[in-house]
Amino acid sequence: RDTKVIAPHLLDWYDRHARVLPWRVPPGGGPNGGAADPYRVWLSEVMLQQTTVAAVKAYFERFTTLWPSVQDLAAAPDAQVMAEWAGLGYYARARNLLACARAVTAAGGFPDTRDGLRDLPGIGAYTSAAIAAIAYDAPETVVDGNVERVVARLFAVETPLPAAKPELVVLAETLTPRNRPGDYAQAMMDLGATICTPRNPACGICPLIDDCDARAAGIAASLPRKTPK
Ligand code: ADE
Repeated sequence: RDTKVIAPHLLDWYDRHARVLPWRVPPGGGPNGGAADPYRVWLSEVMLQQTTVAAVKAYFERFTTLWPSVQDLAAAPDAQVMAEWAGLGYYARARNLLACARAVTAAGGFPDTRDGLRDLPGIGAYTSAAIAAIAYDAPETVVDGNVERVVARLFAVETPLPAAKPELVVLAETLTPRNRPGDYAQAMMDLGATICTPRNPACGICPLIDDCDARAAGIAASLPRKTPK
């Protein structure tokens, strides 16, 4: 396959269409002067693991009002954190959240590399890449279900999921730019959530239409293929 360069188009689109979300730093920089706070990125990504963006917003606002820093969260009573988590489901996530907040606080702050982040409770391949990219602007490749779908379509990968996952990660890595990797990661998620949707993708308004092998082959809506359960 030939190399694709999609980041300039995607970032240009993101600059005009990024969703406004409470854990994002607004264009031009937020209170932290443009850098995202790893605590807020981590908290939002853990909440978003099995819950929709729409449902997470209010929980994120409530948690960050009650506990503005990871040290505040680490000091919270377990029962209060569990009570505030009610409704988000998957309570193991809330237990790991507290364990992680306490480990980070004991260590004096979040680790500054993806590998360091990955050793923390509840932080795996996805969350470590998301924090490194979004909070530190490190050129890590963040692959969630949205990104798998976008990449499967860009390269017309016909291998069904889940077998295609390793191939999709390798292809995704070839796309990650050195410039603005954090915005790029979030732009991929937004593209997958709003344009490159599972059904009826809005190819007509997609900033990557000229880069998309599945669109050229007329098979975008049928990808990614899935092995029947
Ligand atoms: N889903 C998971 N993480 C996200 C993020 N940072 N922005 C938008 N959607 C997401």
